[in-house]
Amino acid sequence: MTQLAPLSTLPEGKNPALRVVPMPADANVHGDVFGGWIMAQVDIAGSIPAVERAQGRVATVAVNSFLFKNPVFVGDLVSFYADIVKTGRTSITVSVEVYAQRMRHSNAIVKVTEATLTYVATDENRLPRELPV
Ligand SMILES: CC(C)(COP(=O)(O)OP(=O)(O)OC[C@H]1O[C@@H](n2cnc3c(N)ncnc32)[C@H](O)[C@@H]1OP(=O)(O)O)[C@@H](O)C(=O)NCCC(=O)NCCS
Repeated sequence: MTQLAPLSTLPEGKNPALRVVPMPADANVHGDVFGGWIMAQVDIAGSIPAVERAQGRVATVAVNSFLFKNPVFVGDLVSFYADIVKTGRTSITVSVEVYAQRMRHSNAIVKVTEATLTYVATDENRLPRELPV
């Protein structure tokens, strides 16, 4: 029996850091969206609040967790919500939640990915830099 993914709604009162529609060139050999494409977009989305908090450049130091809960299809409208969950002396940890709206099918919204990444504020020599207050 085919298991249907539980339907979701977009998080209320929050703006996505990024919204994008994957193209056929972003698909894997089976025609679904390649996980590496999603990982790249998650890294970009997570870096946006990190750069704002750091008031300057950051580098991704760690991908702490990454869960692909449901597939993403070519033509979905994919929304990435990014929230800072922790800051340290130089580091910023961001949670990214990803939702796909099945534009070419039922229009349903499905949560597809959850990830947590850590960024480090860096200086002009690419060395860790203390976060501004
Ligand atoms: C990011 C970078 C500048 C950090 O320099 P570093 O000397 O390794 O960093 P440090 O050991 O001083 O740690 C810096 C911060 O990162 C945190 N950190 C380091 N490794 C971590 C890990 N595995 N997970 C979570 N946080 C980590 C430290 O706890 C510290 O945070 P704090 O200052 O808030 O306490 C360096 O590792 C680097 O240039 N890495 C490559 C970055 C890159 O190219 N990213 C893209 C890859 S495709």
